[in-house]
Amino acid sequence: MKISVIGTGYVGLVSGACFAQMGNSVICVDIDANKIENLKKGIIPIYEPGLEEMVTQNHQKKTLNFTTDVKQAIASSTIAFIAVGTPMGEDGSADLKYVLAVAKSIGEYMQAYMVIVDKSTVPVGTADRVRETIQVQLDARGVDIEFDVVSNPEFLKEGAAIQDFMHPDRVVIGADNEKAMGIMHDLYAPFMKTRDRFIGMDIKSAEMTKYAANAMLATKISFMNEMANICERVGADINRVRNGIGSDSRIGYSFIYPGCGYGGSCFPKDVQALAKTAKDYGYVPRILDAVEAVNYDQKSVISTKVIRYFGEDLSAKKFAVWGLAFKPETDDMREASSITIIDELTSRGASIVAYDPKARREAEEYYLKDNANVSYVDAKYDALKDADAIILVTEWQEFRSPDFDEMKKLLKEPLFFDGRNQFDKNRMEKIGFKYFQIGVEI
Ligand SMILES: NC(=O)c1ccc[n+]([C@@H]2O[C@H](COP(=O)([O-])OP(=O)(O)OC[C@H]3O[C@@H](n4cnc5c(N)ncnc54)[C@H](O)[C@@H]3O)[C@@H](O)[C@H]2O)c1
Repeated sequence: MKISVIGTGYVGLVSGACFAQMGNSVICVDIDANKIENLKKGIIPIYEPGLEEMVTQNHQKKTLNFTTDVKQAIASSTIAFIAVGTPMGEDGSADLKYVLAVAKSIGEYMQAYMVIVDKSTVPVGTADRVRETIQVQLDARGVDIEFDVVSNPEFLKEGAAIQDFMHPDRVVIGADNEKAMGIMHDLYAPFMKTRDRFIGMDIKSAEMTKYAANAMLATKISFMNEMANICERVGADINRVRNGIGSDSRIGYSFIYPGCGYGGSCFPKDVQALAKTAKDYGYVPRILDAVEAVNYDQKSVISTKVIRYFGEDLSAKKFAVWGLAFKPETDDMREASSITIIDELTSRGASIVAYDPKARREAEEYYLKDNANVSYVDAKYDALKDADAIILVTEWQEFRSPDFDEMKKLLKEPLFFDGRNQFDKNRMEKIGFKYFQIGVEI
């Protein structure tokens, strides 16, 4: 099939590469000319395991192309994916200006029947707005071209995006007619060879499914963090509690790890966008508001422990930070807990030496650009030299089994603040660390 993917970010580039991998002819469009030029040269703008190889191979085979020319891309496709960002607006709602700008271009340039696919995470009712926007342009052109708008929310996880897209748990499609549903089923059939995981439904339910999924996952995290905060105060150990409850199959072990809050481009904005939608429709979403409030505070839990230990004046202190990305296996720092933690420490005078396997450039060039108290190293142990303590923020695999003897030699004092509860407290104390984690002690 001939596909255009408009918006070549985490979702657009992964989707485009995976559709090309299955033999489709894909053209990825972006308004960022620099990004497109780099992609043509084989320079991939993001880190995602397996993505570079897949993009390069398919680009060489000419099944995956890149352009800024949306007109040419639309005119030559039968399916157009909208995969642009839907950032949080000032009132918490999803800002649809990029989505509707793409819809306008589609209406301006489409030549024959097309399926327009909303892959961006968009509030219930957006497909109607996309349809109207396209129709206004067709009417202005005085042409009568049939088209369908479908919803196809994306459930990939950054860090495992290729695996998730190639082997999806489910493909959710919202469509209002059999023709469009059939085209989408055919497009995704190669990804579901062993078992059909296609879930067809009406458009609004599909739009809502994405928000409900992210809200559920965010709720699990905030719930567990709230349990951790109670454990700290009553003298219980959240790690034991986690084992105790996860063994109940109705609860399960996934997504119940306590930590220093969730970040990323999805959970924070999607929880708030869903809450805003609910309020717009006259319903006060008490759980969603609480999930967001707990997470906001949770990002400060580990820095609060550091401040309690060293006092408010941190001007003579230097801390090693392991992990900047919002989660492992990505360079994405959107809404990362590291930003809050580093801000809280450096605003009290501390200096930070940070190490992250992939996110250094994002931090240096964008998220922590204006923070003169942060410096960076390219090897994890270099961050520890003469540091007053280590703070682990992102649970990269390479931090799971570090050389503790080496760490003790490099640190001024063997003091470990662990924002992701990676180690056993007894073991850490036995090998000589003062070890603070979440949900065990204040
Ligand atoms: N990142 C994820 O893990 C993830 C997962 C599922 C769903 N989503 C959703 O997918 C959507 C995209 O997210 P992302 O993380 O890929 O965003 P992103 O910011 O990485 O990429 C968006 C891209 O769209 C481009 N763009 C903006 N306006 C454009 C236009 N008019 N024409 C062409 N390109 C344009 C931008 O330049 C950018 O490259 C969002 O709605 C997000 O919520 C993201």
